[in-house]
Amino acid sequence: MAQLIDGKAVAARVRAEVKAETEKLKAERGLVPGLTVVRVGEDPASKIYVTGKKKAAEEVGFNSWEVHPDEKITQDELLSLVDKLNKDPAVHGILVQLPLPKHIDAERIISAVKPEKDVDGFHPVNAGKLSLGKPGPRPCTPFGVMRLLEEVGCNPSGKRAVVVGRSNIVGKPMALMLLAADATVTVCHRKSNLAAEVANADIVVAAVGVPELIKGEWIKPGAVVIDVGMNRMPDGKLKGDVEFAAAKERASFITPVPGGVGPMTIAMLMRNTLEAAKATS
Ligand code: GUN
Repeated sequence: MAQLIDGKAVAARVRAEVKAETEKLKAERGLVPGLTVVRVGEDPASKIYVTGKKKAAEEVGFNSWEVHPDEKITQDELLSLVDKLNKDPAVHGILVQLPLPKHIDAERIISAVKPEKDVDGFHPVNAGKLSLGKPGPRPCTPFGVMRLLEEVGCNPSGKRAVVVGRSNIVGKPMALMLLAADATVTVCHRKSNLAAEVANADIVVAAVGVPELIKGEWIKPGAVVIDVGMNRMPDGKLKGDVEFAAAKERASFITPVPGGVGPMTIAMLMRNTLEAAKATS
C-alpha cells in the first residue's frame, strides 16, 4: 500500500521558503518581487487559476497585479501590453494565462515576453536552456514534480522514468528534467505500448488528460507514481490520469488528485518569480 504524497503540505513549505527569502531580499536590497498575470477574456478555469496565483503572490509578500483585457483585444494590442510589462522595472515576472482566444497566436505572445521575466519557463530561449542543461526558469508543473520526488527521497539517478504525455508545458520539460537528474527516460504518447512501458518504470509521471488511462495493474510494485492529470468528471469531481485505487496497492508513493501535483504549480511559480527578481541588479 503506497504512501500518499501530500502536495498541499509540500507546496505550503515551498511558499514559506519563498516568503522567508522575500523578506530577506526586502531587508537587504529593498527589492520587492513583482508578478503580473495577464488574463485575456473570461475562460472560467483561467479565472480560478489566476485568483490562486494572485493570492499566493500576496501571501509570500510579492507585489502582484492582474491585467484583464477583453477577449476582443487584438494580437498587436496584446503584444504592446507585453512590451510595456517587459519595460516595467517593478515587474519581475510576467505570466500570460493560457489558453488565449483563437485569433491570437499564443506562441507569438509567449515569445514576446522577455526571457528573464518568463516565470512560466515557456519562452523558446528558456526551453532551449532546459534542453541544453543550463540554468533558467523551469516550467512550474514539472519543476514541482521534481520537488515532490525529492521530498519523498526518490532520487531519479539510475532509475527508469516513464513520462506519459509530450506537451510543451509538462511532458517534454518533465522528461528533460528527469534526464538532467540522470534517470533513464522514456516518453510515451498515443502510439506507445503503454502497458509494457509503464510496467518497466520505477517512476511514472502521467500527464495526458485522460481519466484513469494508466491502469493500476501496469504499475511495477514499489514504483513512485506522479499523477499530473486533472480531469473534471460529469459529477463535478476531479479524476487523475492514473487508476488511483488500484495503483496505490502497488506503488510505494503516489500523488492523490486533487492535492498532489496541483498545488505545486503555483508554489513553483512563486519560486521562479523570486529568482527572476533576485537576478535583477
Ligand atoms: N494554463 C494552464 N496551465 C498554465 C500554466 O502553467 N501557465 C499558464 N500561463 N497558463 C496555463
